[in-house]
Amino acid sequence: MKFFIDTANLAQIKEAQDLGVLDGVTTNPSLMAKEGIKGQDNILKHYVDICNIVTGDVSAEVISTDFEGMVREGEILAELHSQIVVKVPMIKEGIKAIKYFTEKGIRTNCTLVFSAGQALLAAKAGATYVSPFIGRLDDVSTDGLNLIEDIRQIYDNYGYETQILAASVRHPMHIIDCAKIGADVVTCPLSAITALLKHPLTDIGLAQFLADAKK
Ligand code: E4P
Repeated sequence: MKFFIDTANLAQIKEAQDLGVLDGVTTNPSLMAKEGIKGQDNILKHYVDICNIVTGDVSAEVISTDFEGMVREGEILAELHSQIVVKVPMIKEGIKAIKYFTEKGIRTNCTLVFSAGQALLAAKAGATYVSPFIGRLDDVSTDGLNLIEDIRQIYDNYGYETQILAASVRHPMHIIDCAKIGADVVTCPLSAITALLKHPLTDIGLAQFLADAKK
Protein backbone atom coordinates (compact mmCIF):
# COMPACT_ATOMS: atom_id res chain seq x y z
CA MET A 1 0.00 0.00 0.00
CA LYS A 2 1.28 3.45 -0.91
CA PHE A 3 1.51 6.23 1.70
CA PHE A 4 0.69 9.77 0.56
CA ILE A 5 0.86 12.77 2.87
CA ASP A 6 -2.17 15.07 2.85
CA THR A 7 -0.71 18.53 3.29
CA ALA A 8 0.78 21.52 1.48
CA ASN A 9 3.29 22.13 4.28
CA LEU A 10 6.78 21.82 2.78
CA ALA A 11 8.51 21.07 6.11
CA GLN A 12 6.15 18.18 6.83
CA ILE A 13 6.47 16.86 3.28
CA LYS A 14 10.26 16.93 3.65
CA GLU A 15 10.08 15.19 7.03
CA ALA A 16 7.87 12.44 5.56
CA GLN A 17 10.15 12.10 2.53
CA ASP A 18 13.20 11.80 4.81
CA LEU A 19 11.47 8.98 6.69
CA GLY A 20 11.80 6.97 3.47
CA VAL A 21 8.25 5.63 3.26
CA LEU A 22 6.53 8.42 1.33
CA ASP A 23 4.99 7.63 -2.06
CA GLY A 24 3.29 10.92 -2.87
CA VAL A 25 1.35 14.00 -1.77
CA THR A 26 -2.26 15.15 -1.95
CA THR A 27 -3.26 18.78 -1.59
CA ASN A 28 -6.56 20.62 -1.79
CA PRO A 29 -7.53 24.30 -1.83
CA SER A 30 -8.12 24.29 1.95
CA LEU A 31 -4.65 22.86 2.62
CA MET A 32 -3.06 25.45 0.30
CA ALA A 33 -4.96 28.26 2.06
CA LYS A 34 -3.80 26.92 5.44
CA GLU A 35 -0.20 27.47 4.30
CA GLY A 36 -1.08 31.01 3.14
CA ILE A 37 -0.40 30.22 -0.54
CA LYS A 38 -2.34 32.78 -2.61
CA GLY A 39 -2.43 33.85 -6.24
CA GLN A 40 -2.05 31.72 -9.37
CA ASP A 41 1.74 32.14 -9.71
CA ASN A 42 2.46 31.31 -6.07
CA ILE A 43 0.14 28.32 -6.17
CA LEU A 44 1.78 26.90 -9.30
CA LYS A 45 5.26 27.50 -7.85
CA HIS A 46 4.24 25.74 -4.63
CA TYR A 47 3.21 22.62 -6.58
CA VAL A 48 6.61 22.58 -8.27
CA ASP A 49 8.33 22.99 -4.90
CA ILE A 50 6.42 19.96 -3.61
CA CYS A 51 7.35 17.91 -6.70
CA ASN A 52 10.99 18.79 -6.10
CA ILE A 53 10.86 17.31 -2.59
CA VAL A 54 9.07 14.02 -3.29
CA THR A 55 9.61 11.34 -5.90
CA GLY A 56 5.96 10.27 -6.27
CA ASP A 57 2.66 11.66 -7.49
CA VAL A 58 1.42 15.09 -6.35
CA SER A 59 -2.31 15.81 -6.61
CA ALA A 60 -3.14 19.42 -7.55
CA GLU A 61 -6.82 20.38 -7.51
CA VAL A 62 -8.74 22.42 -10.06
CA ILE A 63 -11.15 25.01 -8.68
CA SER A 64 -13.36 25.48 -11.75
CA THR A 65 -16.65 23.61 -11.76
CA ASP A 66 -17.38 23.78 -15.49
CA PHE A 67 -15.83 21.45 -18.09
CA GLU A 68 -13.94 24.13 -20.03
CA GLY A 69 -12.52 25.69 -16.89
CA MET A 70 -11.40 22.34 -15.48
CA VAL A 71 -9.72 21.44 -18.76
CA ARG A 72 -7.97 24.80 -18.94
CA GLU A 73 -6.72 24.58 -15.35
CA GLY A 74 -5.87 20.88 -15.53
CA GLU A 75 -3.75 21.31 -18.65
CA ILE A 76 -1.74 24.08 -16.97
CA LEU A 77 -1.25 21.93 -13.85
CA ALA A 78 -0.24 18.85 -15.84
CA GLU A 79 2.32 20.90 -17.80
CA LEU A 80 3.99 22.02 -14.56
CA HIS A 81 5.69 18.72 -13.73
CA SER A 82 5.50 15.05 -14.71
CA GLN A 83 4.57 14.10 -11.14
CA ILE A 84 1.38 16.21 -11.14
CA VAL A 85 -1.96 14.40 -11.02
CA VAL A 86 -4.96 16.65 -11.73
CA LYS A 87 -7.50 16.46 -8.93
CA VAL A 88 -11.07 16.85 -10.16
CA PRO A 89 -14.28 16.95 -8.07
CA MET A 90 -16.91 14.23 -8.41
CA ILE A 91 -19.53 16.23 -10.27
CA LYS A 92 -21.03 15.75 -13.75
CA GLU A 93 -18.64 18.21 -15.40
CA GLY A 94 -15.81 16.60 -13.46
CA ILE A 95 -16.55 13.18 -14.92
CA LYS A 96 -16.52 14.69 -18.41
CA ALA A 97 -13.19 16.37 -17.62
CA ILE A 98 -11.70 13.12 -16.26
CA LYS A 99 -12.70 11.33 -19.47
CA TYR A 100 -11.11 14.15 -21.50
CA PHE A 101 -7.87 14.08 -19.45
CA THR A 102 -7.72 10.27 -19.67
CA GLU A 103 -7.90 10.41 -23.46
CA LYS A 104 -5.12 13.04 -23.45
CA GLY A 105 -2.90 10.89 -21.20
CA ILE A 106 -3.23 13.29 -18.25
CA ARG A 107 -3.53 11.47 -14.92
CA THR A 108 -6.40 12.33 -12.58
CA ASN A 109 -7.57 11.96 -9.00
CA CYS A 110 -11.35 12.04 -8.63
CA THR A 111 -11.99 13.72 -5.29
CA LEU A 112 -14.91 14.20 -2.88
CA VAL A 113 -16.18 10.64 -3.36
CA PHE A 114 -18.69 9.45 -0.77
CA SER A 115 -20.49 6.52 -2.45
CA ALA A 116 -19.75 3.35 -4.38
CA GLY A 117 -21.79 4.65 -7.33
CA GLN A 118 -19.57 7.73 -7.57
CA ALA A 119 -16.48 5.51 -7.46
CA LEU A 120 -17.87 3.34 -10.26
CA LEU A 121 -18.40 6.42 -12.45
CA ALA A 122 -14.86 7.65 -11.73
CA ALA A 123 -13.42 4.30 -12.81
CA LYS A 124 -15.53 4.22 -15.96
CA ALA A 125 -14.25 7.70 -16.87
CA GLY A 126 -10.69 6.36 -16.46
CA ALA A 127 -9.56 8.16 -13.30
CA THR A 128 -6.06 7.19 -12.18
CA TYR A 129 -7.11 7.52 -8.53
CA VAL A 130 -10.44 7.69 -6.75
CA SER A 131 -10.54 9.45 -3.38
CA PRO A 132 -13.23 8.22 -0.98
CA PHE A 133 -13.20 10.46 2.12
CA ILE A 134 -13.51 7.99 4.96
CA GLY A 135 -12.99 10.37 7.90
CA ARG A 136 -15.72 12.74 6.72
CA LEU A 137 -18.11 9.76 6.44
CA ASP A 138 -17.20 8.71 9.98
CA ASP A 139 -17.97 12.31 11.02
CA VAL A 140 -21.60 11.81 9.95
CA SER A 141 -21.96 8.41 11.66
CA THR A 142 -21.40 6.37 8.48
CA ASP A 143 -18.61 3.78 8.40
CA GLY A 144 -16.11 5.08 5.85
CA LEU A 145 -14.29 1.75 5.77
CA ASN A 146 -17.43 0.02 4.41
CA LEU A 147 -17.14 2.28 1.40
CA ILE A 148 -13.53 1.22 0.82
CA GLU A 149 -14.65 -2.45 0.97
CA ASP A 150 -17.48 -1.84 -1.52
CA ILE A 151 -15.23 -0.03 -3.98
CA ARG A 152 -12.55 -2.75 -3.68
CA GLN A 153 -15.15 -5.40 -4.52
CA ILE A 154 -16.59 -3.47 -7.47
CA TYR A 155 -13.19 -2.65 -8.97
CA ASP A 156 -12.00 -6.25 -8.54
CA ASN A 157 -15.20 -7.61 -10.13
CA TYR A 158 -14.44 -5.79 -13.35
CA GLY A 159 -10.68 -5.31 -13.24
CA TYR A 160 -10.82 -1.51 -13.12
CA GLU A 161 -7.31 -0.12 -12.85
CA THR A 162 -8.33 3.03 -10.98
CA GLN A 163 -6.42 3.04 -7.70
CA ILE A 164 -8.37 3.39 -4.47
CA LEU A 165 -6.81 6.33 -2.62
CA ALA A 166 -8.38 6.31 0.84
CA ALA A 167 -8.60 9.99 1.81
CA SER A 168 -9.60 11.93 4.89
CA VAL A 169 -7.67 9.30 6.84
CA ARG A 170 -7.35 10.57 10.37
CA HIS A 171 -5.55 8.02 12.56
CA PRO A 172 -3.38 4.88 12.50
CA MET A 173 -6.32 2.44 12.75
CA HIS A 174 -7.72 3.91 9.54
CA ILE A 175 -4.39 3.11 7.87
CA ILE A 176 -4.29 -0.46 9.21
CA ASP A 177 -7.92 -1.13 8.26
CA CYS A 178 -7.37 0.28 4.76
CA ALA A 179 -4.36 -2.03 4.37
CA LYS A 180 -6.47 -5.04 5.48
CA ILE A 181 -9.19 -4.20 2.98
CA GLY A 182 -6.71 -3.65 0.15
CA ALA A 183 -6.83 0.08 -0.54
CA ASP A 184 -4.05 0.95 -2.99
CA VAL A 185 -3.11 4.21 -1.26
CA VAL A 186 -3.87 6.10 1.95
CA THR A 187 -3.41 9.83 2.27
CA CYS A 188 -3.18 11.26 5.77
CA PRO A 189 -1.40 13.77 8.00
CA LEU A 190 2.20 12.98 8.98
CA SER A 191 0.99 12.40 12.56
CA ALA A 192 -1.05 9.35 11.47
CA ILE A 193 2.02 7.83 9.78
CA THR A 194 4.36 8.45 12.71
CA ALA A 195 1.72 7.08 15.11
CA LEU A 196 2.28 3.70 13.42
CA LEU A 197 5.77 3.70 14.95
CA LYS A 198 4.55 3.73 18.49
CA HIS A 199 4.19 0.82 20.91
CA PRO A 200 4.86 1.02 24.66
CA LEU A 201 6.51 -2.42 24.64
CA THR A 202 8.99 -1.14 22.05
CA ASP A 203 9.90 1.77 24.37
CA ILE A 204 10.15 -0.47 27.45
CA GLY A 205 12.15 -3.10 25.56
CA LEU A 206 14.56 -0.53 24.13
CA ALA A 207 15.10 1.11 27.52
CA GLN A 208 15.90 -2.33 28.98
CA PHE A 209 18.31 -3.24 26.18
CA LEU A 210 20.14 0.09 26.52
CA ALA A 211 20.36 -0.29 30.29
CA ASP A 212 21.66 -3.87 29.94
CA ALA A 213 24.18 -2.78 27.32
CA LYS A 214 25.86 -0.58 29.96
CA LYS A 215 26.33 -3.49 32.34
C1 E4P B 1 -7.98 14.25 -0.01
O1 E4P B 1 -7.30 14.29 -0.99
C2 E4P B 1 -8.29 15.40 0.86
O2 E4P B 1 -7.28 16.35 0.69
C3 E4P B 1 -8.28 15.06 2.32
O3 E4P B 1 -7.91 13.73 2.58
C4 E4P B 1 -9.44 15.57 3.08
O4 E4P B 1 -9.26 15.24 4.44
P1 E4P B 1 -10.04 15.97 5.62
O5 E4P B 1 -11.41 15.38 5.68
O6 E4P B 1 -9.25 15.63 6.85
O7 E4P B 1 -10.07 17.43 5.29
